[in-house]
Amino acid sequence: MREMRKIVVVGAGMMGNALAQVFASDPELSVILKTRKLKDNRLEAIENNLDIMIARGAATEQEKRDILRRIRFVTDDAEAYSDADFIIECYPEVMEMKQELFAGIEKFCPDDCILATNTSVMSVTEISAKCRLRERVVGAHFWNPGHLIPLVEVVKSDYTSEEVMQATMALLTRVGKKPIYCKKDVPGFVANRLQHALWREAFYMVENGIADPATVDDACKYGPGLRWPVMGPMENSDLVGIELTYNIHKYILKHLADNHEPSPLLAEMLGRGELGFKSGRGWQGWTCEQMRASADGLKEYLIDYTAKQKG
Ligand SMILES: NC(=O)c1ccc[n+]([C@@H]2O[C@H](COP(=O)([O-])OP(=O)(O)OC[C@H]3O[C@@H](n4cnc5c(N)ncnc54)[C@H](O)[C@@H]3O)[C@@H](O)[C@H]2O)c1
Repeated sequence: MREMRKIVVVGAGMMGNALAQVFASDPELSVILKTRKLKDNRLEAIENNLDIMIARGAATEQEKRDILRRIRFVTDDAEAYSDADFIIECYPEVMEMKQELFAGIEKFCPDDCILATNTSVMSVTEISAKCRLRERVVGAHFWNPGHLIPLVEVVKSDYTSEEVMQATMALLTRVGKKPIYCKKDVPGFVANRLQHALWREAFYMVENGIADPATVDDACKYGPGLRWPVMGPMENSDLVGIELTYNIHKYILKHLADNHEPSPLLAEMLGRGELGFKSGRGWQGWTCEQMRASADGLKEYLIDYTAKQKG
């Protein structure tokens, strides 16, 4: 496998900017942000991310200068891809676009360059369908905000080689991420399956009058959610014991939500134009101040977490 030196991030939208920032944090890497037009150039998004981190002690002015210096915008395919070691696409979530993009990139990049997709939900196997060398295509699903959430799901398609999986895991570890190895290319990979199993139960409880939306959120924030940053369900199950886990599941599983369609409440809210932050009402009403406090509160929590990790 090639030594990792030149990283190309394709698409300079929300995720592309964040990912360029992540890779450029490594002094040994140079980063190309591949855009359609130079006017797509949005280095200010990265500057803004870094300024907020500096204000809370999670980065320094010197780190900001170094990161910005390592990122270059390129529009030309040959210039961007010809000597790339690792290319990750942050293109719109449209299957045909991703397939065509990778097939096009293969005309320029070296045969041992890795092609990674940041798709949120799509099949990595299908994304590689038009590629000549399908074993080099891998999923690398970052979580938003990509520069702050450590998790990256590294997804093995039906064709991805073990060598490509290992090289991708190593690169992500090197830039400070926490990659996890997803053995199968299934919808939702690992983390979204967990997240939406929880959301399904949350919506079911509101639908059935078991609890109000705010009560469901409090049950997470002030209860089991406090454990999750340090203890996942498998370790927790060992802690309480396999016998107790077995007995609890024997009693409770038949009572839990198992619907295969979205909650009817979601459809009703859509019909009323209640779109969450977009319309100022979702599961609850939102003022501008409340929305800002919610979004900023999450970012500040994640930045403080990042600062703490850096010691
Ligand atoms: N937003 C999230 O929370 C999130 C999280 C994880 C993964 N993802 C995935 O990351 C990918 C990108 O998402 P995003 O939120 O950054 O989207 P975005 O719309 O912010 O960015 C997409 C970028 O692609 C560019 N683009 C569109 N057509 C192009 C073309 N033909 N050539 C070159 N550039 C082109 C756009 O100009 C834009 O900059 C998607 O696959 C998405 O599912 C998103």
